[in-house]
Amino acid sequence: MSDVPRYVYLEDTFEAQTYAKRPVVIVRGKGALLWDAEGREYIDCVAGHGVSITGHCHPKIVEAIKMQAEKLITCSGILYNDVRAELVEKIAKIVPKGLTRSFLSNSGTEAVECAIKVARRYTGKKEIIAMTKGFHGRTLGALSATWEKKYREPFEPLVPGFNHVRFGDAEEVREAINENTAAVLVEPVQGEAGVNPAPDGYLKELREICDEKDVLLIFDEVQTGFGRTGEMFACMHWGVTPDIMTMAKGIAGGVPMGATVAKEEVMNSLKESEHASTFGGNPLACATANATIDVIIEEKLPQRSKELGLHLKGKLETIRENSKAVKEVRALGLMIGVELRFRVKDYVLKSLEKGLLVLTSGLTILRLLPPLVIEKEQIDKTAEILAEVLET
Ligand SMILES: Cc1ncc(COP(=O)(O)O)c(C=O)c1O
Repeated sequence: MSDVPRYVYLEDTFEAQTYAKRPVVIVRGKGALLWDAEGREYIDCVAGHGVSITGHCHPKIVEAIKMQAEKLITCSGILYNDVRAELVEKIAKIVPKGLTRSFLSNSGTEAVECAIKVARRYTGKKEIIAMTKGFHGRTLGALSATWEKKYREPFEPLVPGFNHVRFGDAEEVREAINENTAAVLVEPVQGEAGVNPAPDGYLKELREICDEKDVLLIFDEVQTGFGRTGEMFACMHWGVTPDIMTMAKGIAGGVPMGATVAKEEVMNSLKESEHASTFGGNPLACATANATIDVIIEEKLPQRSKELGLHLKGKLETIRENSKAVKEVRALGLMIGVELRFRVKDYVLKSLEKGLLVLTSGLTILRLLPPLVIEKEQIDKTAEILAEVLET
């Protein structure tokens, strides 16, 4: 007899009920494909919520995990470690120039927490300006920067000092800055909001305003980093360098890791013991991240994301022309949002029935974050399934 009902029962009974689960038990993955407990195959445009940049179980990453697991799994930050040393140098080489210091953690929300602390510590000021529709995580500091009321309100009081202004309007930022402002925090492409790229010129204007007013600029690249949008980091599309940048998701092939990078003098305002993480920078995650970043560079995944993203966007635009359901297609590389005129839920379930896993943003946006190693044929199949689902 199938074990599927048992797995569903166990998660429904013993796990916190905080996820809107899809009716499928996933047990195995390879590249851009996943298989369920009954052997059914799916094209994975969820990718662990945008984590699996390098695809599932990439052989070089699996090998790195195996080797490191046999050598050393944990090593406190108070001791030096070979693979951690290699990783912090590697990160400094791929981020926008000058962001040479990193703090390693375990998730996106922790990377944001660190960014907030660094900004307060360096400036001695308390307030952060964040954006409408922005998403930065669910721990209390990052949640205070997150915009959506339904995530925030049940947990108030949050951290004071966060102010939201309209995403895309640099003048609103200028007006909101006051003598207590430490930093401006923005996603170069808003992800959870349904893939909203910064309007051209916006990030540059923010950079100029922050320089003029002596305020730090923080980019949250947790979802957009590591080639997702067609550049190693999304801010590179516009050639703008922040003072602090957060990253996570794709950094370590699916093994939990977050990182906050900053300019030397900014990060070094944090003094000994003022920030730490027991698991942050553990050798298992660091070795995995080293292998993941090598794969991203060797396989030119940012370029691949750019090309395949354009290809898929073209196909989705054709679907839009033939579908009453599709209002707009927004894409940068393989970060894709399809805004619908109707609720997205039924379309998600229909796609699942046809062997395609997709994400959502809010109630009406279908989001695709496939692994960047996805094959062109798999992209074509994705478009074929979406045409069947959306054109009816
Ligand atoms: C831009 C951004 N920042 C922060 C986070 C929080 O990351 P995590 O879920 O790893 O805590 C996310 C998660 O989706 C995100 O998209």
